[in-house]
Amino acid sequence: MIELTPIFNAMLGAEIPFEKFSKDTRVTFFTGAGISAESGIPTFRSTGGLWSKYDPVKLASPEGFNENPQLVLDWYAWRRDAIRLADPNPAHLSITKFQKLFHDSAVITQNVDSLHSRAGNNSVLELHGNIFRERCNNCGEENGLNSDERTKIRYCHCGGMLRPDVVWFGETLENQKLEQAFELTGACQIFFSLGTSTQVYPAAQLPFYAKEHGAYTIEINTERTPFSNHTDLFIKDAAGHALPNLYEEFYAAVS
Ligand code: OAD
Repeated sequence: MIELTPIFNAMLGAEIPFEKFSKDTRVTFFTGAGISAESGIPTFRSTGGLWSKYDPVKLASPEGFNENPQLVLDWYAWRRDAIRLADPNPAHLSITKFQKLFHDSAVITQNVDSLHSRAGNNSVLELHGNIFRERCNNCGEENGLNSDERTKIRYCHCGGMLRPDVVWFGETLENQKLEQAFELTGACQIFFSLGTSTQVYPAAQLPFYAKEHGAYTIEINTERTPFSNHTDLFIKDAAGHALPNLYEEFYAAVS
């Protein structure tokens, strides 16, 4: 494993086996809250992150919702407001450029903020759902969240309460999405792990799975993670700084 700090960014290209890659190389981007940090959206586990201030059991679990649905709805409305004020940052925008260079590419995100799509990324798989949608807590039927703000408790035609369409603690991911994520990971030749603490399973398994299946792995994070000792290249830097630099290197070598 090679570790680079920001000062070495100018020589990133020297470390990457560009000769192995072409425009037909399959590329998968796996992202977490850190990629949206520079858009002003708080992460969960960094210093001062959401889970250091708020109790995930009260705000992001089925038990919390059953106990106090209004509190949960208010918290999600507050987060939606913050996200609406945010714009995609250079890391999201770089992925759009990368996807023009590598046409066979996809994004797997744990984020629920829609910033990948707003940046023009394509083939975005939202593993943990989307904060701007809602669904029935009982029958699961999706119900687009289209009014400006909905914090009142509302009910589905089946009688169940409507809730944000995100995955909560203790809940399982949709099988089909998870299978697709492993497929995209196992079949790619370059795998980027960007701004994720690699602590929440099953998503955290993906970088390891990519490595086991022969992908060249690049991790960008401001801190080391459980994957950092296993990745081919670890760049200790903000994604919004390192990824645009890396794109320039790839563009020069591959296009
Ligand atoms: P975390 O908050 O656990 O981790 C964010 C990571 O981003 C940390 O490793 C930071 O070091 C890193 N980071 C912060 N700023 C960065 C920057 N500018 N550039 C690069 N890296 C940066 O977020 P996730 O890994 O996404 O689940 O957390 C996974 C899941 O846990 C989330 O999807 C959420 C949460 O509970 C659900 O809500 C189901």
